[in-house]
Amino acid sequence: MNTHLHVTAWALAFILFIVALVLHKQGKEKAAKIVQMILRLDYLLILYSGGDLIMNYFNGSPMLAEAIVKGIAGIGVIAGMEMTLGKIKDGDSAKVGWSVLIVAFIITIALGFFRLPGGFN
Ligand code: HEM
Repeated sequence: MNTHLHVTAWALAFILFIVALVLHKQGKEKAAKIVQMILRLDYLLILYSGGDLIMNYFNGSPMLAEAIVKGIAGIGVIAGMEMTLGKIKDGDSAKVGWSVLIVAFIITIALGFFRLPGGFN
């Protein structure tokens, strides 16, 4: 299975995340809620495709540990998006959510693009 699905799934997640944020800011709560529900379905696609990619490393690969850390950081990105949207919806400070999101995203990109071989094939 391919990297395309994974990259498409998380790129879509970022778009939906931004759209949900903007809708919240505009006070369009119902629309924001619907977009967030679609975003949650997209998480399943990210988890499925990411889980599938991790399977490639259970063959004695020396990079298994890094692939697992990559997966945990990916789950951290999802957690960060959920925390941020949840706090903003409640009108609370979303600082922790943003921090989790940004730190997890940096680790994810560093490992996904620059450490793990992956690639589009
Ligand atoms: C929104 C969250 C996520 C982002 C932004 C993200 C980002 C990325 C990126 C940039 C790549 C490299 C693609 C390439 O090689 O061209 C990648 C690959 C991968 N991701 Fe994710 N990912 C996320 C979630 C996950 C999750 C939840 C898992 C595990 C369950 C996961 C596991 C993997 C694995 C195993 C690879 C393959 C690495 C390789 O062989 O190069 N990712 N991801």
